[in-house]
Amino acid sequence: MGRLLEVKDLSISFGGIKAVQHLNFHIDKGEVLALIGPNGSGKSTTVNMISGVYIQNSGTITFDGKEIPPTMSIAQRAKLGIGRTFQTPKPFAHLSVYDNIYTIALQQNTKAQAAELTDEILNLAGLYDLKDTRSGKLSIEKRKWMDLARCMATKPKIIMMDEVMAGLNPSEMEASLELVRTINKEGITVLFIEHVMKAVVSVCTRAIVLNQGQLLCEGEPKAVLNDPEVIAAYLGGEVDVARN
Ligand SMILES: Nc1ncnc2c1ncn2[C@@H]1O[C@H](COP(=O)(O)OP(=O)(O)O)[C@@H](O)[C@H]1O
Ligand SMILES: [Mg+2]
Repeated sequence: MGRLLEVKDLSISFGGIKAVQHLNFHIDKGEVLALIGPNGSGKSTTVNMISGVYIQNSGTITFDGKEIPPTMSIAQRAKLGIGRTFQTPKPFAHLSVYDNIYTIALQQNTKAQAAELTDEILNLAGLYDLKDTRSGKLSIEKRKWMDLARCMATKPKIIMMDEVMAGLNPSEMEASLELVRTINKEGITVLFIEHVMKAVVSVCTRAIVLNQGQLLCEGEPKAVLNDPEVIAAYLGGEVDVARN
């Protein structure tokens, strides 16, 4: 297997807010790792530092055996295989589903290769029938799938999924979880940020919990969710760990 991503002593503050403090964790190749924690605990900030949106104040990020210089751009990180989705996807709303994916695929491929890759991804993501639909007309569920599909067009080694299940009903969620499994079977490692604990338990092999920017605990998802410290961290929050 081997390590794909290793984060060491990673910290960032915004003004007086210590958003992430001395964070250490790793992801092995092929894993689906859950990153959970209450709102404001630093999950999206962590993804933003790994993908290059924010530059850490201290600490290191090592990807596929190479330490990432803090100044490395988002585009260069994407070329290395670091992919992510957004809590609020921002597709090219006026373009078709096909063109949204094809445009991204073209960035690193010839036209013929990009067309082939786009077809492959449309099939994999269950979007083929919608390929001519303007993306602005998609349902929330399909918009999230398209965001994943666009990410796949960069041929990532890892996809960091930031709350891809939010706003979905149970059957849409089940379909989306199946898509996450399919993506993982393709050999893509997944960092899965999610509040719906059923989803975490059903798809993740391991979980880490953030609280106030710090690592609270780590382990097998079910064990982690039953940890009294984790339950306490969520109390008063938006998630009922026991019931979800
Ligand atoms: N760009 C920013 N400017 C100021 N504060 C920020 C910024 N991004 C995140 N934060 C703060 O960092 C903390 C962690 O936020 P975030 O990573 O979005 O949490 P989560 O994704 O776990 O809900 C919060 O207190 C948030 O307000
Ligand atoms: Mg977030």
